Amino acid sequence: MAKLTDVAWNEFEALPLEAKRPYLANPDLPNTPYHTLFAQQFDRDLLERLAALANRIRFMAKSKEGALYLKSLLPHKRAMLYFSQPSSRTFLSHLAACQILGLTWGSVRDAATSSEFKGESREDSIRTFSSYFDMIIMRTPEKGLAEQMAWELSNSYRPIPIIQALLDIYTLLRSFETKGGLRNRTVTFCGDLLRGRTVRSLSYLLTNFENIRQVFVAPPELQVPEDVLAILRAKGVQYAISGNLREAVSLSDAVYMTRIQDEWDQSKGESARIDTHLFKFGAEELKLLPPDGIIMHPLPRRDEIATCCDRDPRAMYWRQMRNGMWIRSALIAMTFGFEKQIMCFGA
Ligand code: CP
Repeated sequence: MAKLTDVAWNEFEALPLEAKRPYLANPDLPNTPYHTLFAQQFDRDLLERLAALANRIRFMAKSKEGALYLKSLLPHKRAMLYFSQPSSRTFLSHLAACQILGLTWGSVRDAATSSEFKGESREDSIRTFSSYFDMIIMRTPEKGLAEQMAWELSNSYRPIPIIQALLDIYTLLRSFETKGGLRNRTVTFCGDLLRGRTVRSLSYLLTNFENIRQVFVAPPELQVPEDVLAILRAKGVQYAISGNLREAVSLSDAVYMTRIQDEWDQSKGESARIDTHLFKFGAEELKLLPPDGIIMHPLPRRDEIATCCDRDPRAMYWRQMRNGMWIRSALIAMTFGFEKQIMCFGA
């Protein structure tokens, strides 16, 4: 069994993502992550178990008896939410997931309010959290930081898990579970495909399912990066690059819209100079979407989806946000080894 304690940081860092997977697994539970850092850790079995667990938690949380049972599972655990980037949904969905499972929690949302302001390194700050908490849930713009922290913590005298993944796949699984499942589908991604992290992870996660065609619709400056396409080619996934949203919508089972991520601009006004008017979903696109199709968006949105679409039953983005809470509850419960116990509740 590969262990983070058996590999030097620079050797681990150099591995391809798929080769890192066994190092991040829980050695005591079959196909279960300990640290959750990227999409390459999830295969179909794990995704389907997580979705089943999220469904179970969602149904249990509807009754007082079920909700109290869930709350009784993890009162002995504490989670630190370390968010050094602005966030509403990711932060609140994880916080709500902690509350559902009875974990207590703390948060740092601005390095200026922590001892990083006094010059403490990010690494020391995170080691400090591990003295008081049993899990770190983090969002950071620093590439590789979560991985490095996972390695550091696993090699410390107090190893605790780190979670940073996003799992929009649950909304797709739920949307098609009574309509033949997530296979033989066309999923269109539209918007800023170059810088949106959710696009990267969802594109990869979809490769776990049979015959999912992926279409990438964006202005040339914001098209999906070559490394994402290289993965699709290596896995034999059919894909298309397009600049025509309307045509793509009419052929799609799911349309995943994204906002222009101008917070990553290298120079002032860089994104504002890109012509994005053809990459918005409105009343005309809604008419073209097949009756069983769905519209997704990780939110927050600006004007990529007109508000006139919000009441259409195919608009899944609000449900997608709530699904984030259920799937995160499932991931936290699974990380702490409570999958079986929850699945057996009431059996
Ligand atoms: N989708 C998403 O990550 O939203 P927040 O930035 O509000 O967390």
